[in-house]
Amino acid sequence: LHVVHMTAEMAPIAKVGGLGDVVTGLARACLSRGHNLEVMLPFYESLPEDQIEGLQHDRDFDCPKGRVWDGKMQPGSLRTSVFRGKIDGIPVLLLRPDWGACNIFRGGRIYGGSYNEVEAYLYFSRACLEFLKISGRQPEIIHAHEWQLSAVPMLYWDVYHASGLSRPRVMLTIHNMDNSGECRQDEFAYTGMPGEAFATVDKALDERTIGHNPERLCLMKGGIIYSNAVTTVSPTYAREALEGGAAGWLRSTLAKPDVRGKFKGLLNGIDTALWDPATDPLIPAPYTPERMEGKALCKRYLQQGLGLDVSFDKPIVACITRLVPQKGIHLIRHAVYRTAELGGQFLLLGSGHADGDFRAMAAQDFKDSPDVRLMVMYSEELAHLMYAAADMVLVPSLFEPCGLTQLVAMRYGAVPIVRSTGGLADTVTDVDDGRRSAEGNGYRFSGMDNASLNTALDRAMQTFRDDRERWTDLSRRNMRIDWSWENSARSYVDIYNQLASY
Ligand code: GLC
Repeated sequence: LHVVHMTAEMAPIAKVGGLGDVVTGLARACLSRGHNLEVMLPFYESLPEDQIEGLQHDRDFDCPKGRVWDGKMQPGSLRTSVFRGKIDGIPVLLLRPDWGACNIFRGGRIYGGSYNEVEAYLYFSRACLEFLKISGRQPEIIHAHEWQLSAVPMLYWDVYHASGLSRPRVMLTIHNMDNSGECRQDEFAYTGMPGEAFATVDKALDERTIGHNPERLCLMKGGIIYSNAVTTVSPTYAREALEGGAAGWLRSTLAKPDVRGKFKGLLNGIDTALWDPATDPLIPAPYTPERMEGKALCKRYLQQGLGLDVSFDKPIVACITRLVPQKGIHLIRHAVYRTAELGGQFLLLGSGHADGDFRAMAAQDFKDSPDVRLMVMYSEELAHLMYAAADMVLVPSLFEPCGLTQLVAMRYGAVPIVRSTGGLADTVTDVDDGRRSAEGNGYRFSGMDNASLNTALDRAMQTFRDDRERWTDLSRRNMRIDWSWENSARSYVDIYNQLASY
């Protein structure tokens, strides 16, 4: 199969969250199964070019764009350059607009630049399809990700399919329904789609406009309706989207009979080559389930490095997360105090909306504490060290489409403590769950209040203290669980094959 991914993120060099990891992990697994695969990514100014193998110019073309600034807003096109290369061994096509004419994708960061994101990704969605057409590519599958590329399934019919080329099938993967991408009707014209065509789409998608604001279009809704297949990143999150509140106002779209039939939750995997305590160059002592001494050394190394009490008997609870409401900020905050109270050590690594709160907490309540470090920042290196040193990893998300940290935690022999939601519920079984305790790999709680969290954290701390043998056994077993992309990639390829055989 020839599969073309279209995405806003790709690990390791264009990554903000799990989306980037998933694209790279899935792409690599498909490549190793012998499929032909390319990833289309914006050529953000912030990409480190020295980390793109064999970078070379492919071609320039004019991408239609309904609104360009030429003294006033008017229909026109945007000169676009395409570069080829490889990121981590995976073939990529990088697209950038002429920076003389706009500042799309410019600046030091991937998101949050000085340009309008709706304009940027609507332009990018159109440019990806234009490039496929111009370069004569005829992939069997176009795999678009997240709200940023949700216009692709809509545009595909007019831009690509109408040009008489072959019929790639279009698949959309939703990593998070919290941001479903809204825009005004006139902004949709950034795709260069002519007004009449837009009206047709709009009529077919009358439901698309039902949102917080009837004046606005929801890109993800359109993407869902126009795709041949739609996936999200865990079975429980898919169910919560249909039956619970997870999908917000996408729910009615997902519940349509014809959408239900093409909508599925497939669990993410992790990159087990990157996350491997036996070979990880970022940790001071490698270890395996058979030889765990290295894990104790890593714990000691981190405790020393951070100036904490060096103690093997104090459990380290680590939390590695974006500090956004989804992640259960008030529960993280509570867990810091609770862990210290119970004689453990708490390490936080993360950044986001709640930075100020945690900085203040660090300065006021835990200044020079021997047991708590709240590190408000992003560091891939420190994350690796923390997984290796941690005894427990806390993931108290209010909702979680899949979640990757609990999987990495297990790979590094840490025990996850999670709220039962979305992918967390699909991957963590409570060790004290009567019927299923034999498969137990962590601790779960359900409520969103402090007392609920305590029911899980307290049990974990107690087992660590009173039954170290059971704990070590659990930690070893967790390391042996296979969370690689192998299984998930097979499910994706099954869907690709079904779509391609239509
Ligand atoms: C988003 C979700 C997270 C998921 C990731 C990759 O970041 O919040 O749960 O693991 O996407 O699919």
